[in-house]
Amino acid sequence: MRILITGGAGFIGSNLVLHWLQHHPQDHVFNLDALTYAGNLLNLKEVEGNSNYHFLHADLRQPDVVKNIFIENKIEGVLHLAAESHVDRSISGPADFIETNILGTFHLLEAARSYWGNSPDPRFHHVSTDEVFGSLGPEGAFHEETPYAPNSPYSASKASSDHLVRAYHHTYGLNVVTTNCSNNYGPFQFPEKLIPLLIHNCLAERSLPVYGDGRNIRDWLYVKDHCRALDLVFHRGQTGECYNIGGSNEWRNLDVVHLICDLLDKELGRSGDDSCRKLITFVKDRPGHDQRYAIDPRKMLRELKWSPELDFQMGLLQTIRWYLNNQAWVEQVTSGSYREYYRQQYNV
Ligand code: NAD
Ligand code: DAU
Repeated sequence: MRILITGGAGFIGSNLVLHWLQHHPQDHVFNLDALTYAGNLLNLKEVEGNSNYHFLHADLRQPDVVKNIFIENKIEGVLHLAAESHVDRSISGPADFIETNILGTFHLLEAARSYWGNSPDPRFHHVSTDEVFGSLGPEGAFHEETPYAPNSPYSASKASSDHLVRAYHHTYGLNVVTTNCSNNYGPFQFPEKLIPLLIHNCLAERSLPVYGDGRNIRDWLYVKDHCRALDLVFHRGQTGECYNIGGSNEWRNLDVVHLICDLLDKELGRSGDDSCRKLITFVKDRPGHDQRYAIDPRKMLRELKWSPELDFQMGLLQTIRWYLNNQAWVEQVTSGSYREYYRQQYNV
């Protein structure tokens, strides 16, 4: 098959491109990416020479370019991951989120509809987030019928794109599936997100910013487990259906911070006054900070026999070691505009 993966130079996208070329070596993978601050071709170095891998430097906000990509490359299926993805950036500057996540998805849907016509076969898989469901209290979990209640400009833009995808199925018969996933972690995650930021700051001996009281809860999933789930839903999910993907792995932020400090102390031989824990700093809370996310993943288990494989402590250790072994990557992605973002975000 000739598959278009959008956002393939980002964190989950690049892990997915690597997964796809390994598990479906007969497929052609077309990676459409605008290479924003979050996209990096270094992530895909190991497949650069693979004749079934094709990079398309393009922006979803350009409808004619996107339409031509379908025609020129005879695209037979889409996994749509390209997005502005960081909640804090959506709070300080929502415009890019509206343009890429809503309008960009619209242009992609239009391109698919115009190229595929009424054919029921080609699949459009929209990759979304659990944040569209809003915030949970102490009990319960998000399931596929949970009403949407997005609270940040990021989650509102993703919710909007989810609705457009749904509408293209009901109105035009487009063969869509949508997945809503919980927090991912693993290799190639940009160090603005909690886990890689903490690792990066521990190594640089910079403060570890904990928003509010650190009691907010996230449900963490290793990125390669997410990629396996996406592969299954793309190939075997029911058309028009949504699937919630999660780690069944809830952690309070402060506990994640402690765990990372302890794992890194061991890796670096730090202890006592030297421990990474001394860097923990409570800072002003994120405006509208969702209290708790948790996914009910029973539909994925029941229908597609998927469940996460990697245990969190093991996954975190692997991730920490990946960052320790890939400091050149970290240097590269944190040069340039990262410093200015960091200064403004954390007021330092
Ligand atoms: P990311 O920010 O790491 O990567 C996004 C990629 O999209 C980058 O390569 C960027 O260059 C590209 N991109 C941005 N705007 C574009 C545009 N206008 N045209 C073309 N390309 C553009 O994001 P991620 O964390 O890998 O997330 C990927 C997808 O998964 C997103 O849709 C996100 O909403 C969703 N998601 C992420 C998580 C998570 O924990 N990271 C969890 C659930 C769902
Ligand atoms: O739930 C899925 C979502 O997970 C994805 O849709 C988003 O793209 C992804 O960015 C992520 O959103 P979060 O806002 O949950 O992730 P982030 O890593 O930014 O923050 C995780 C938690 O840690 C959150 O409660 C805020 C807190 N935090 C974050 C940062 C960056 C801190 O306490 N300090 C920080 O410096």
